[in-house]
Amino acid sequence: MEAKVYIVGAGPGDPDLITVKGLRIVERADVVLYTDSLVSEDLVSHAGAHAEVLQSSGMDLEQMVDVMARTVSAGRSVARVHTGDPSVYGAILEQMVLLKQRDIPYEIVPGVSSVFAAAAALGAELTVPDLTQTVILTRAEGRTPVPDREKLRDLASHHCTVALFLSATLAKKVVREFLEAGWSEDTPVAVVQRATWPDQKIVRTTLRELDGALREAGIRMHAMILAGWALDPTLVDRDAHRSKLYDKTFTHGYRKGVAASE
Ligand SMILES: C[S@@+](CC[C@H](N)C(=O)[O-])C[C@H]1O[C@@H](n2cnc3c(N)ncnc32)[C@H](O)[C@@H]1O
Repeated sequence: MEAKVYIVGAGPGDPDLITVKGLRIVERADVVLYTDSLVSEDLVSHAGAHAEVLQSSGMDLEQMVDVMARTVSAGRSVARVHTGDPSVYGAILEQMVLLKQRDIPYEIVPGVSSVFAAAAALGAELTVPDLTQTVILTRAEGRTPVPDREKLRDLASHHCTVALFLSATLAKKVVREFLEAGWSEDTPVAVVQRATWPDQKIVRTTLRELDGALREAGIRMHAMILAGWALDPTLVDRDAHRSKLYDKTFTHGYRKGVAASE
């Protein structure tokens, strides 16, 4: 394997949800550096017998980059394993900046983000024809500031599907801002805690009940909140939202519509 840092998405928890490419890198890397609270030990156990396996929780950024730089400069490879997909709230830019300053090559290998694992656990399509064709990935503002032009109230004004990372303790604020954006109190909201882990928990509720439902379920972290009418659990019983893609009368590049071909 090339001497570089592979920034690998581990997926949401289930060790089978890493990509084939990501797993090969974990198996072959000389150093495996992983986010211990959120990456499964089962997955890390695939590291080779020769590999040095390190947890990132006790290290600061400079220490991590030192390990990576030392390893790659010695002609060896590093798998830096992140939860979900590294590009979403993965804090990888700061690693790449320091690696680039030291001329250390790196490559990103994508993973299954928790937003998609949560949708799968719920049996939901996030983009439902005629209902919404947009998903916003965001977070509520807590200790980490969010730019002014990205306030939840403004984002929610699109009335699309909204996926909230890192927001389980901020439900009151989420509800207030969505209501201010004109959402109705009975808008469906689904919360998946530890999606794909053996102790996965699902809570289906409404905007009105969200805060209470999270308290009752004891959910404060590792939770994905999905809000909007695409999360309506009755959609699957109604057959009211068909796409054009498989519509008999709709012609596209790969299939002539019935009307067009007759
Ligand atoms: C630091 S962010 C990392 C996100 C990750 N890069 C991803 O793509 O899923 C951590 C947040 O992601 C969400 N998260 C990560 N793993 C999760 C899981 N298995 N189930 C539900 N939410 C999860 C939660 O909102 C958590 O607070």
